[in-house]
Order: sequence, then C-alpha cells, then structure tokens
Amino acid sequence: MRILLPLARLAHMPSRSVRLWALCALVSFGLPAKEPVKATHGMVGAQEPLAADVGLTVLKNGGNAVDAAVAVGFALAVTHPVAGNIGGGGFMLVRLANGTTDFLDFRECAPAKASRDMYLGPNGNPTRESIYGWKSAGVPGTVAGLELAHKKFGSQDWKSLVTPAVGLAKDGFTLTEPVAAALRSENNPLNQDPESKRIFLRDGNPYKTGEVLKQPELASTLDRIARQGAKGFYRGETAKKLTAEMAAHGGFITESDLQDYKVIERLPLTGTYHGYNVITAPPPSAGGVGLLQMMGMLTGTTYESDGPNSPKAVHFVAEAMRRFYADRSEYLGDPDFYNVPVRQLLDPAYLTWRRGTIDPERATPSELIGPGLPKHLQARVSWYESKETTHYNVVDAKGNAVAVTYTLNNSYGNGITVPGLGFLLNDEMDDFAAKPGAPNMFGMVGADANAIEPGKRPLSSMTPTIITKGSKLEMVVGAPGGSRITTGVAEVIFNVLDFGLNAQDAVDLPRFHLQWKPDVLYLQTGFPLQTEGALRAMGYDVKPTDNVARVEAIVVNNGTLEGGTESRLHGKVAGY
Ligand code: DON
Repeated sequence: MRILLPLARLAHMPSRSVRLWALCALVSFGLPAKEPVKATHGMVGAQEPLAADVGLTVLKNGGNAVDAAVAVGFALAVTHPVAGNIGGGGFMLVRLANGTTDFLDFRECAPAKASRDMYLGPNGNPTRESIYGWKSAGVPGTVAGLELAHKKFGSQDWKSLVTPAVGLAKDGFTLTEPVAAALRSENNPLNQDPESKRIFLRDGNPYKTGEVLKQPELASTLDRIARQGAKGFYRGETAKKLTAEMAAHGGFITESDLQDYKVIERLPLTGTYHGYNVITAPPPSAGGVGLLQMMGMLTGTTYESDGPNSPKAVHFVAEAMRRFYADRSEYLGDPDFYNVPVRQLLDPAYLTWRRGTIDPERATPSELIGPGLPKHLQARVSWYESKETTHYNVVDAKGNAVAVTYTLNNSYGNGITVPGLGFLLNDEMDDFAAKPGAPNMFGMVGADANAIEPGKRPLSSMTPTIITKGSKLEMVVGAPGGSRITTGVAEVIFNVLDFGLNAQDAVDLPRFHLQWKPDVLYLQTGFPLQTEGALRAMGYDVKPTDNVARVEAIVVNNGTLEGGTESRLHGKVAGY
C-alpha cells in the first residue's frame, strides 16, 4: 500500500493517521492497492488505449497538451464509437503552465426550429423523441471546439493531428473485447438504424474480438476536416448530406444551424478547497457549481475523520450531494438564456447555512430539502442507469494541462449514423427539461432554467477539473457517467486531497451517489456490508449500483505524473 502524496497535501487534516485510514479502507474493500502509471514528461489518460497512444505520440513528437487533446478527440471518434464523437459536443478545460486558463464550451445547442414543448405528446407528457430518432440531436460542437482549441493553443499542424484518426478509420483497427462486446450489446440503439447496423453490426453479423473494423465513410468525413478544418464539417459536402438526411427524416438541424454554431469561451469556475485552487466547469455545466458547493458544505465538518468511505464520510458527502442536486433542478441552465445565480449558489454564507441543515447522525429525507429553501416535494421519480460519455486528460512536458469531457449523451448517441458520412449523432436534447419536473434519461429534473429554447445549450453534468496549489499543477480529473459525473469526480478529488490515495487507488475505490430525487443512496459494488448497514441505520434507502461515473485522473506527485484509469474498465494511461 502506498500513500504517495506529500503529507503537506494533508496538512489541513486532523493529526490522526491518514495512512492507516486509507490502508484500512482499501483492505476492507478487498481492493489490491495499485501503483499508478508514472511518467516525467507527459501523460495521456483516456478510456480507449489506441486513442491514448495517438495522444502520446503527439506529445513525444513535440506537440503540446492541446495538440494531443485534439488528436485524441478525433481518434476516439473512430476507436471508441460508444462516446467518442464528431457528432456530439463537450467541454475542454485548459490550464497552461503559465497559469492561463480557458474553458471551451463546444456543447451542442438546440436547433433554431426547437421549441419548449417539442417533446411533449398529445397527453402533455414527454415522448421518447428526445432520446431516439433524428429530432433528438442537438447541433454538434466537437469539430468546432477542437478547431478553436487548436487555433488558440496548438503548436502542430492541424492536419497532422487529424490524420491519425483518418488512418484508424480508413485502415481499420482491431476490435478488443470491450469494444466488440459494447457493439454487440442488445441494449444499444445501433440495431434500430439501418446505416448503424450496416457499419457497426455488419448487417446483423456482429464483429468478433480480434476482427478489424473499417469505417471508410467516416475516414472521408475526417479527411475533409483534416484538409479544410471545421469548414469541412459545418459547410460543404458534410453539412449538405447531414441536413438533407435530417430533413428527410423529420429532424430539425439545418444548414444555417450548422453555419451559425459557435464555440463559447467561458471563464472557468474557480474556488478553493483545503488550501487548493479548484478550476472547473461553469454553466451550462452544473458540474463545477456542484463540486464547489459540495466542497463548501463539507468544509469544517471533519467529515474525513473516520477515513475514506467510512459511514461518516459517506453520510456527509451524500448530504452535500442531496442539497446540490436540489439546487441544480431549479437554478441551473445555460447562462446565455437564464440568469444562473452562480455567485449566490457559491456564497459561503449560503453554504454555511446549507451545511447547518445536515444532521450529523441521520439522513435528511429529500422531501424536506428543496432548492435553496426547505419545502415539501413531490413524488419520487425513477432513475435510469448512466449510459456513455468519455473523458480524457493530457499533461505535457511543460506542465500544460487539458481535461476534456465530450459526449453523444446516450451510448452511441441516438444510434443514428448519417448515411454517407459515417458518424453517429447525439441525443443531447434529452439533457433539457422537456417538461418541468419530468425526469430525463438520468432521472434529472429541471425547470425554466433548463427549458428548451432555440440556440440554447442543455444543462450538463460534465465536470472537467484541474486542481493547483499556488501555481503548481496538482491534479487533472473528469469522468463520464450522466448525473453521477459530478459526484464521481468530487469523490476522487476527495480521495486524493483529503485521504491521500494515489491516482490509481483513488479512481478504484468504490463510490456512492445520491441525487436528491430519487431519495436513494447508491453504493457501487464493493462496499462492505457493515458500512451499508450503518448507512441504513442512519435512514438511507441504500441500493447497489454497478458504477458511479468512470473517472480518469492524473495527479502530480513531487514532479512525477501519476495517472489512474479505473481497473474496472479498459482505458489506458500512457506516459513517457
Ligand atoms: O452532459 C451531460 O451531463 C450528459 N449528456 C452526459 C452523459 C453521460 O455522461 C452518459 N454517460 N455515461
């Protein structure tokens, strides 16, 4: 067992033996403590190994972290079709070694023809059209986002960064079992779309592990992007084919939606926690507000005194989660369309008051907690298992750091491959509140702040985050996982900063999640029965779950880069 972080990182903590806590926690979870991958020059952590290697090659060839992030983004669109994309959107958080930060919001937006009630059926309730079919797609942002990142921060020739993806699509790549199994999965929407079925399921004769998947149409689409930049996607052949298919199938995205798409540069949200600077995602993500709210509510509670994943730690963190998700449902949305009260939500006085409503011994029923003010709330809602998105981190030899979370929303998005273009479309429109109080795919409820409007971005949970101490880079982190992203990222940060776990152990430790509605505490497989029992005794409705986000983390330990990717999954940390 190694607790690798400098003890200085734990200086804010009570003097009890942090090492012993962490040791006990991992042993009691039956986890073999594992070494992170270590490197001194540069590192890429991604959820598909071939794409991680593409990034590493860029770094080794002298590219910077943003160059590598661009190349990884395009490579994942080929090798990780479940979430890697050019037909979706996401966020890129950049922190240069000189302290400059930037947040590129390339989230999909609602097409001009979108309207508030577009997903309500004749009975006034949401239909499934926000998830399935051509109408579910928002205007894709990924290609524009990667291009702007490159224009602002890149150092290598654009074409050289897209070309590896073109090659992987044209020449094909060997399917590993996880990728082949995901394609075969009966639950994925690829079966429903003829073009997706043809390309990804070989027309009903699914690929086996070890076979090669070639995507010639995607190769041509990527080649246009390599040669023409984002114009090769938002205009010309790609735009024409995409919008013609949209129109033919009753979808909304038009050529002018594509031409009008804009990446928005935003100020990252910042805060401090236990002596660290936290740089994270602003709205239209709820993630950064959630992370900083939870940190604010935990400050001063000594929640960490019994060790990671102890009943006390889970209880306090779960109560902070509950309060954040209640606020999320009411106040958070696209700041360009709704006056999101970020300052008030992060006001220390507000968070002190919220903290004061946490009973140290008992769970607070969600119906007693509302957005900002206690109130009695409505019926419980169902919760659906999280689908797919992906996150990757890059740090280069100079210490520039990039955290990217991007997504098609659902696994394989809406499952539709645009004929002739080879890429899958997102179903990001489901992240809007189709109707106040009606749960989306992730059980998230929302109101006016997240109502549908033309050009608006749906509220996200994606939480790419960078942590520094003074001017020193400490951690780069993020995750997919739907509504569980924010909690998963927060827990891994706490595992590192508050409990001294190394990057690998921090991502491997089982996690928990509570999102206000439903009033259920989900414990990831691996929690000891005693902990579960203690939490039930405190009043929690405890349920098991397979995963709480899928977190990627790079931690800087005395100048060494240490990367963790979840042992439960199939990602790769590549460093040199
Ligand atoms: O932006 C969001 O919050 C969602 N569209 C993310 C979806 C997701 O993470 C699904 N995968 N695990």
